[in-house]
Amino acid sequence: MGEKPELLELMQMPPRVAETMAGRYKIHALWQAADKQAMLANVADMITGVVTMGHGGCTAELMKQLPSLKMVSVFGVGYDGVDVAHATANDIKVSNTPDVLTDEVANLAVGLTLALTREIPKADSYVREGHWLKGEMPFNRTIVNRPVGVVGMGRIGRATADRLAALGADVSWYGPRPKPNVPYPFDPDIAHLAANMDGLVLCCPGGPVTKHLVNRAVINALGPDGWLVNVARGSVVEEDALVEALLGKRIWGAGLDVFAHEPKVPSALLDLDNVVLQPHQASATVATRHAMADLVVENLDLFYANKPLKTPVTS
Ligand code: 8YV
Repeated sequence: MGEKPELLELMQMPPRVAETMAGRYKIHALWQAADKQAMLANVADMITGVVTMGHGGCTAELMKQLPSLKMVSVFGVGYDGVDVAHATANDIKVSNTPDVLTDEVANLAVGLTLALTREIPKADSYVREGHWLKGEMPFNRTIVNRPVGVVGMGRIGRATADRLAALGADVSWYGPRPKPNVPYPFDPDIAHLAANMDGLVLCCPGGPVTKHLVNRAVINALGPDGWLVNVARGSVVEEDALVEALLGKRIWGAGLDVFAHEPKVPSALLDLDNVVLQPHQASATVATRHAMADLVVENLDLFYANKPLKTPVTS
């Protein structure tokens, strides 16, 4: 490499990204700039690469302001915030970080499912607050021999389904189309699936295609004993309808790692004890976030060496 390629960092990356780059790139941190437009006016012509998060993304509007842009490296498997169609049409390559986080996200999906149904946070409080001394905690719910629906059968959906099945759940799934070699029954109608399942675990991509896939009708179909776990994107669920259903006891509970307006969480959820909340951390172990950071940089290195990307995104 000759001159250091100049990159625009749209959202704060973990320190590991800069460490792994070891000075091979010059980074301009747009997220830190007090006046973003002034910074863009200064550096736009030099920027050939962008690093960003999948849900924060990279809009067509921003890409249009970067005339030399050729590569967008996304920290995350999801790239719902990136206008991939615009990038592809303008010869801008996009990469993401699949595979390295699959097991981690699936583990949290299952962890949230158990935390919710077995009421682990509530049981922890029960011990700490001395209630156990006065009597046994009410019994909780099982997923053993119970129908559980997985929404989305990509890598994470499959890994989640396999784990739930290993724990004894009777898994069925919904996705945009049936897939070969999936041993679980497919239901092409998500409301029908919801009506027949104890709970749904959302593992599908975000973006316009799945926006409010889990709408009021699907939530109501789960019924007063039903539950919902979401490790996908907040946009997949009609959040107002979910909150109303939880408050009105038209659904029993929810385990949520993602929200419509992160990091803001609807305040009504904070007072409910049949809800388990997480700060979008399904992939957030030290080891997995390191692997994701390394893949962000590996894709950049390959791009600037004129080699094929390791994990390209295609529209
Ligand atoms: C993100 C995620 O990387 O991979 C995804 O799509 O949602 C996470 O793993 C996370 O948003 C980073 O903050």
